[in-house]
Amino acid sequence: MATRTQNRSSNRSSSSRSSSNGNRSGGGSRSAFSWSEGAAPVLGAALAGVAIGVAANFGRKFVMQSMEAAAGDWDEILAAEHDMALAIFDKMLATDETQTFKRKMLLMKLTHALDKHAHQEEMVVYPALREANETAAADHLESEHGYIKTFIFELNEMGPDASNWLEKVREFRQLVSEHAHMEEEEVFPRFKQDMDEEQTAHITSLVNRDGFWMA
Ligand SMILES: [Fe+2]
Ligand SMILES: [Fe+2]
Repeated sequence: MATRTQNRSSNRSSSSRSSSNGNRSGGGSRSAFSWSEGAAPVLGAALAGVAIGVAANFGRKFVMQSMEAAAGDWDEILAAEHDMALAIFDKMLATDETQTFKRKMLLMKLTHALDKHAHQEEMVVYPALREANETAAADHLESEHGYIKTFIFELNEMGPDASNWLEKVREFRQLVSEHAHMEEEEVFPRFKQDMDEEQTAHITSLVNRDGFWMA
């Protein structure tokens, strides 16, 4: 145990060194998103057209993310999101096959919530776990996100009036619940216990920033 903790700590100091070097990930991927020169005037007009929509959406995001930012550290934010997702599952399980519209709406809501949540974990928390020598845990959790997406795909394919809809939702909830439990009870506390206040605040701000753009 002592060796394990030591390993993590020594790895952590290397991870804080690399993060203090700045945003390594920001440099290499620019070209994929950069616009060609000739497209600029057309884009300018198009962008002016969507500016109002963007502004309105920005307000909505700000309200949503401010509510979350008040939830505390990164692990508390993510745990609150787990609870929100599980509550949507419970509403889904309380429907019957005549409530197809409600089922569709709840599935859309769940998809959006899980998508935003997975993005925060995959872009911030799991990479940070890998830097802290928790690669196996990060890879395991990330592969489960793939199966979560598979459930969403299957539910969309089968349609809200399918006779096995509830059974599928129940199985899906079980996977999400076990996944959330592993994060909340095992992996996140183990990771957080070696962090100092500054590192915790840094991960929290990255999770909040990522969630803001996904909200
Ligand atoms: Fe996760
Ligand atoms: Fe999670």
